[in-house]
Amino acid sequence: MSWKKQSILSAAQFTSADLTEILDLSQRIETALSAKRNLKLLDDFILATLFFEPSTRTRLSFEAAMHRLGGRVISTVGVQFSSLAKGETLFDTLKMVESYSDICAIRHSVEGASSLAAQSIQIPVINAGDGAGEHPTQGLLDLYTIHKRGFLERGKLKIAFVGDIRFGRTIHSLVQLLSHFGAEMVFISPDELQLPDKYRRLLDAAKISYTETHDIAALRDVHVGYITRIQEERFTDHREYEKFKDAYIVDLELVEKCRKDIAIMHPLPRLSEVATDLDRHPAAAYFEQANNGLYVRMALILGLLDAGF
Ligand code: NCD
Repeated sequence: MSWKKQSILSAAQFTSADLTEILDLSQRIETALSAKRNLKLLDDFILATLFFEPSTRTRLSFEAAMHRLGGRVISTVGVQFSSLAKGETLFDTLKMVESYSDICAIRHSVEGASSLAAQSIQIPVINAGDGAGEHPTQGLLDLYTIHKRGFLERGKLKIAFVGDIRFGRTIHSLVQLLSHFGAEMVFISPDELQLPDKYRRLLDAAKISYTETHDIAALRDVHVGYITRIQEERFTDHREYEKFKDAYIVDLELVEKCRKDIAIMHPLPRLSEVATDLDRHPAAAYFEQANNGLYVRMALILGLLDAGF
């Protein structure tokens, strides 16, 4: 079964063929958008964005994507401004969303929330981040960025993930997507923030070789450094967070010791882990990622609504 007309809940659901198709569709959309501002393909459709956790890029890019396809958007932001604050269950909220819209994107602090949502309603549900679980559409736009930088050729990519590998949901999705391309992976983190077992097993099953280290110097021989924020909101003990929050800082001085063509990626928002002195350096790919999010999310919305392009 193709990825089209489904919900997007986990990176695990995509086949290699799906990924090729999504990258290709995103590329065609990017090209088309350089000539016109609106593709006017989804005139009669409504996207609902339900963001019960903070977001800037993900929500705005989903909404911009729907607008640039000619569709409409309804949205609710933050538990405190929705009826969940009055005690309504997520299920009841969703039943209403189902009747008001054709597709919805959900961000929620509980792992598995979007899967539960998809079981409750008939319209396609997009997981826009479920707690410390996954963030598959970010993984796809990361993949598209790596592809555009020319590093996706099978068996050639070496990527280092830096920072909060335990709670970083974008990493959990991206490692699964990259396993289709035979990427070699390095995980750079404190012991307490290492990759959860669930994803280790997936990498083992896909025969992906990976190493783990504390040492940021491992960044020097990779094609891509994927840096992440320590996920403060997932720590139950704030002192633990304080201990790790400045664990790694990637700056111009470090990047100048790396491969000449290295791409430094970050899903954003960043705190201190990527220094702003890097922003104008050709290695900096993080604003490019955010930009690519628009094309990839347009491709995904089109696919889920089974609209041709
Ligand atoms: C990420 C997220 O929400 O998981 N942000 C994003 O969607 N671009 C990363 C983060 O919050 O650190």
